[in-house]
Amino acid sequence: MSMYPALRLRRTRSTAWSRTLVRETHLAPAHLIWPLFVTSGQGVEEPIASLPGVSRWSVDGIVARAKEAKALGIGVVALFPNTPRELRTERGEEALNPDNLMCRAVKAIKDALGDDIGVLTDVALDPYTAHGHDGLVDGGGYVLNDATSEVLVAQALNQAAAGADIIAPSDMMDGRVGAIRDALEEGGHVNVQIMAYAAKYASAFYGPFRDAVGSGGLLKGDKKTYQMDPANTEEALREVELDLAEGADSVMVKPGLPYLDIVRAVKERFEVPVFAYQVSGEYAMIEAAAAAGAGDRDALVLETLLAFRRAGCSGVLSYHAAHAARLMNG
Ligand code: PBG
Repeated sequence: MSMYPALRLRRTRSTAWSRTLVRETHLAPAHLIWPLFVTSGQGVEEPIASLPGVSRWSVDGIVARAKEAKALGIGVVALFPNTPRELRTERGEEALNPDNLMCRAVKAIKDALGDDIGVLTDVALDPYTAHGHDGLVDGGGYVLNDATSEVLVAQALNQAAAGADIIAPSDMMDGRVGAIRDALEEGGHVNVQIMAYAAKYASAFYGPFRDAVGSGGLLKGDKKTYQMDPANTEEALREVELDLAEGADSVMVKPGLPYLDIVRAVKERFEVPVFAYQVSGEYAMIEAAAAAGAGDRDALVLETLLAFRRAGCSGVLSYHAAHAARLMNG
């Protein structure tokens, strides 16, 4: 290896064309998945206070957002419903209603755009339960694993029947990926993908999301008996290994930026498509920093998204997806 001054690492940095020429990581709109919040009604847009710049949209608005995503080069939208309060129950039955908000939104997008865009649906009961947990609870408030898994299978089939392309279980029950995969095969949904929230941590970064789906005020206790301890890496690798063995097509790490070490470890160990979720609290942090003049918003958005790609992500779920795509498209 040559040494300074024969070697000057600044040489290739000295012009824009040269920096582009040696760039190792690329970020494009096609790497982004745009999470969208669905609400009831027609022609409704409800801004979410804790997520400045993000709104819930009624189904017609969701279709418009999906068309916008397609036009920007974003390949997938992810849907989350804000279920009306009166439909939230102990057991979250509304999740199984073929005509629920989620299914109506999926159908409307598929009717309008077909395979021009992918639709990812979240499997978990928190937008449907009166207690805000992702599953069924026993008398002591403990989230039951196997009983929940049975309901999640039915929820996944309900979403697949509506036309979902990617089923994304975000609940962290043991064994649910295998159960969902078996049911999809039996139901003839052989090409429906599963993107498993494999390493999902019990994080303080989910607050604004819970406002967005209306589960925040309802949640009793925390989710530490099913979501992972932020201290653990080996356990994340075990979760990923199991979900892949059970039939996941891709895996997700969540939250995003504070967990890029996990992304990298998963990518190196398993060599499968890895995604990360830049979650609501991360979005809010960037917006707050920009609003406080602590950084340039556009630069913060693009730099953080690029960091996911550098760490090994195939793609990123981000509330900044449309804005970032617009920036990239010039
Ligand atoms: C729940 C779910 C959560 C998110 C996605 N699915 C919140 C939670 O686990 O309480 C968080 C996403 C975000 O914060 O942006 N199944």
